[in-house]
Amino acid sequence: MTPVPLNPSDPKALLEAVLRANEGTADPRLKTVLAAAIRHLHAFALEVELQPDELQAGLDFLVAVGKATGPRKHEGILLADILGLATLVQLRGARHAVEAGGTEPALVGPFWRAGQPERANGARIASEDTPGPRLTVTGRVTDLAGAPIAGARVETWQASPKGLYENQDPAQADMNLRGRFTTDGDGRFGFVSVRPAGYPVPTDGPCGALLAAQGRHTMRPAHLHFIVAAEGFKVLATQFFDAEDPHAFDDVVFGAVGSLLRRFEPDGEGGFRLHVDLKLERGATRLPHCPLP
Ligand SMILES: [Fe+2]
Repeated sequence: MTPVPLNPSDPKALLEAVLRANEGTADPRLKTVLAAAIRHLHAFALEVELQPDELQAGLDFLVAVGKATGPRKHEGILLADILGLATLVQLRGARHAVEAGGTEPALVGPFWRAGQPERANGARIASEDTPGPRLTVTGRVTDLAGAPIAGARVETWQASPKGLYENQDPAQADMNLRGRFTTDGDGRFGFVSVRPAGYPVPTDGPCGALLAAQGRHTMRPAHLHFIVAAEGFKVLATQFFDAEDPHAFDDVVFGAVGSLLRRFEPDGEGGFRLHVDLKLERGATRLPHCPLP
């Protein structure tokens, strides 16, 4: 084929040239993903008639996201969260399991820590000086048909009644409100904690500036995080939300889907009770990337 000079004023010809340049990508999945990203980026720039200074501002924003990421915070995860992208990807990935009765997933978020302490079933995960009403949590891990999964690893983490994770809060002990449990022969686990509060996502980086520019609030409804891993089952990362939280229907990261809202039932002694059922789909067991040491 005789090479033809690129007509730079023809966006269609430019796009085709860029897509041709992608044709040599060896990994077939990467080739597909890159081609779609290129097509959508070009369409996006055309739709808004993107100006050179706006392109530069967008690139500077991405650089700022990278610079705001470190061992204590992953600004990139936060960006995917506040744009709803993390929730979209997770819900799409789990839709067959959810249609079959599996527990709906919710995003892992930036606060899961590696090496959360192993605790016995029924143990407290809140240090004695943690304020707030007691919350007694019981749970059961089953397959989609309801058969118990024994020996499943259940990790949980939550914010304090002040709305802070321990690694954000010098007043809390290391690994407070975090734990790792193993289900018993009937798939059950449990622990004692305190009722969590909602909290704002971190706003000290470029994502905070983006939320402000959009005129959005920064709050997540109160929730407990879970990650459940069992041999022969897909890993389930989810959260259960306080249905009475003022932001239960208005989560800044769009994670509080309806099936994960729960009422924290009064236990008659000033505390609350929460039961969660975690239904896993069979498949390869792959733990998600843990964002914090
Ligand atoms: Fe959280």
